[in-house]
Amino acid sequence: MAQESFLTRVKNSLFGNQKQTEKEETKIMKIGIISGSVREGNNATAVSQWVLDFANNRNDEGVEYELVPLSDYDLPLMGAKLFEDRAEAAGAAIKAWSEKMASFDGYVFITPEYNHAVGGALKNALDYLNPEVNNKAAALVGYGSLGGARAHENMRVILGELSVASVHTTTNFSLMADFENMSVFKPNDYNKTNAEGMFNDLLLWTKALNTIR
Ligand SMILES: Cc1cc2nc3c(=O)[nH]c(=O)nc-3n(C[C@H](O)[C@H](O)[C@H](O)COP(=O)(O)O)c2cc1C
Repeated sequence: MAQESFLTRVKNSLFGNQKQTEKEETKIMKIGIISGSVREGNNATAVSQWVLDFANNRNDEGVEYELVPLSDYDLPLMGAKLFEDRAEAAGAAIKAWSEKMASFDGYVFITPEYNHAVGGALKNALDYLNPEVNNKAAALVGYGSLGGARAHENMRVILGELSVASVHTTTNFSLMADFENMSVFKPNDYNKTNAEGMFNDLLLWTKALNTIR
């Protein structure tokens, strides 16, 4: 490989490496939209699809959005004793979850609220992660009687421990106002304002954190 001249190295250290800067600017930002419930018939599925459609409709240049249903990963309860015939599949599920989460630059977590906290399945799934998500950004979408607001406070503590920066603006769907019979998703249009601000915040912080990893 050709050596850079002394002058080029000095110029790069003073003014930045133009080739490197161009590479960083053209890098695709990958955002995972994590549907954080495994309950059969869960409300997270409809909310996550709305979030994915909303994200795609923004036509953010250089950004790719991908839906990740937590229910696709049959993760064991961390530390639980497994029968031999289950151990191999469980190991494969943990590996696939870890690799999928590592592949993103940022996240949108769709969180149910159970007893004023994040759902147990999502907490368990997050406990399997650490370096995969370090120094990345996350946005929070919730649903519940108060739009999942208390689950979000809980999420911020957990994400802080994982060195994930959670952005200020959240999107909160009310089980009473944005669902029929608390189960059929009929979101009010005003949620789009929060979602817009939330994605703006997320992309800004994702871009910023890309520069320190
Ligand atoms: C055991 C249990 C505890 C719950 N606790 C809360 C709560 O603290 N706050 C809230 O807003 N909703 C609460 N709910 C309602 C759930 O948020 C709601 O059923 C939601 O749809 C569950 O998420 P899922 O559909 O993804 O499973 C609770 C539901 C159950 C079954």
